[in-house]
Amino acid sequence: MCGVVGYIGGKNAVDVVVNGLKKLEYRGYDSSGVAVVKDGQLQIIRSVGKLKNLEENIEKKHLKSNISIGHTRWATHGKPSEENAHPHADPTKSIVIVHNGIVENYAELKSDLEKEGKEFKSETDTEVIAHLIKKHYKNNLLFAVQESLKEIKGSYALGVICKDEPDKIICARQDAPLIIGIGKGENFLASDIPALLSYTRDMIFLENGDIAELTTSRIIITDIENNVKKREVKNIKWDYVQTEKKGYKHFMLKEIYEQPRTIEDTFMGRIYPDEGRVYIKKIKLSEKDIKNISNVYIVGCGTSYHSGLVSKFFFENFAKIHAEVDIASEFRYREPILNDRTLVMVISQSGETADTLAALRLAKSKGCITLAICNVVGSSMSREADHVLYTHCGPEIGVASTKAFTGQIAAIYILALDWAWRKKSLSKEELKRYLKELWEIPVKIRNFLKESGSVREVAKKFAHKRNFLYLGRNVNYPVALEGALKLKEISYIHAEGYAAGEIKHGPIALIDNDMPVVAIAVKSKIYEKIISNIEEAKARGGTIILIASESDKIALDNEDSVIYVPDCDEFISPILSVIPLQLLSYYVAVMLGCDVDQPRNLAKSVTVE
Ligand code: G6P
Repeated sequence: MCGVVGYIGGKNAVDVVVNGLKKLEYRGYDSSGVAVVKDGQLQIIRSVGKLKNLEENIEKKHLKSNISIGHTRWATHGKPSEENAHPHADPTKSIVIVHNGIVENYAELKSDLEKEGKEFKSETDTEVIAHLIKKHYKNNLLFAVQESLKEIKGSYALGVICKDEPDKIICARQDAPLIIGIGKGENFLASDIPALLSYTRDMIFLENGDIAELTTSRIIITDIENNVKKREVKNIKWDYVQTEKKGYKHFMLKEIYEQPRTIEDTFMGRIYPDEGRVYIKKIKLSEKDIKNISNVYIVGCGTSYHSGLVSKFFFENFAKIHAEVDIASEFRYREPILNDRTLVMVISQSGETADTLAALRLAKSKGCITLAICNVVGSSMSREADHVLYTHCGPEIGVASTKAFTGQIAAIYILALDWAWRKKSLSKEELKRYLKELWEIPVKIRNFLKESGSVREVAKKFAHKRNFLYLGRNVNYPVALEGALKLKEISYIHAEGYAAGEIKHGPIALIDNDMPVVAIAVKSKIYEKIISNIEEAKARGGTIILIASESDKIALDNEDSVIYVPDCDEFISPILSVIPLQLLSYYVAVMLGCDVDQPRNLAKSVTVE
């Protein structure tokens, strides 16, 4: 939610900030703005809509400087408008800020400031921060920010500049990600790694409570009481070109096609199918610790929640550990029974989703063992959890998550197999077989993607429909949910995912000849059951789009469609069966002229509750 960028150094700061914002547009895209100090004055440019509107404005006004902060917004307080867009300045226009987060006590602060005669120009919570900093300002910007933050309750990733101290940017972090990029004679700040990758790979991940002063040559990090803090510099290995579209029309399509490699990157070096062994170095749980775990809670939001639903099967079937899956926003408020024998595994691509982070903190406060499955290195969850298992998917830019889903499944699959080995809950032969199944998946996806023209044909046939039903069972039930979510997110078509055995308890009433039913019926032990459910849907006039195993040459009625995926073991099948569903939603969205990478009302990283 909202992206923040800042730069101080020898380059044109506005260019650096706008380039950075382009990489963060996935975090919010309803309005944007930049501020600079030039000739002793603050200049601010803001625009409603996509970043290109801001760029046009900047060009018209020939804005240039060596210091700048910028912002791309996902509205929380106040509608998307120029007045509500960031940066926000104090009334005397000497201090200007960009902010990602929420000031929870802003109404109280605003009313106090109004009593002191201060006028507000926007409906945002952020503007109070600019007023407060001005109030505390006595020729020391760092001190003024420290004092102001003592009054603020809530979350923030903050960038601040002041016309009277044009040689520095102050930034601060509390419950919203903020990274400092280290350059030579220049320094950067940003909400996320991709914004800085084309300039530097040396980054500091600020921690909660950190306040930093950046000049061209120095970075000082303190806490609110001005105690100096030491933070490790991390070298980020992500490839810059991973953040580019590389000839694909959309990031989402590129990310779908990247999956053979991102799955491979996630398991490579960690699994040895011939030995039936998994080696995950970073998780320091001993055999005794693992045997002591009584149950696992798997927690996430959106697509990560769906991969959690798949993971439950791995813990139960491989590691023989009781597992429950929860939506993070529910888990955190429902008093789950947690103790020191409970493992709480949070799943999050970004590692920053507010509800998932809160669930993690709840688990820690109850003494649980915590494990984060994250994609973003150095993210809040990866730092706060006791253990972290990274998916190696590289940056995911498309708002609709694709490669993170399959990466998460691959990571948790090997984790559960590792535990199965340690607990001896699977035989060596079984372990070898399951690992080999995963090992072969990238090639199978590659082969499928080469021949995926059938998905486009299906999309063409059904793009005009306004409702879809997705059916799956067992390990492919979460895939039905994920397929429906993808369609909703980017095509704005109503779609529901259902456990196929459950349709006769309600959803079957919806089925008529205007309702396409996407059914995942790959080979599995309950294959016959789902085929019966499909027959039930057909008997009510439903048109079927079947996701079937290649070896299964199913006889279809004329109006029905089938997309074949390579055969594989049922436990790993979600990784394969989700691919045609990702592509189907992609092609439908493109055919309907929707904004695939930046769908309306959504943001990639939801750092507010
Ligand atoms: C947002 C995104 C989804 C994502 C969810 C959880 O809603 O639009 O694509 O699945 O957040 O994000 P996380 O980073 O925690 O996996």
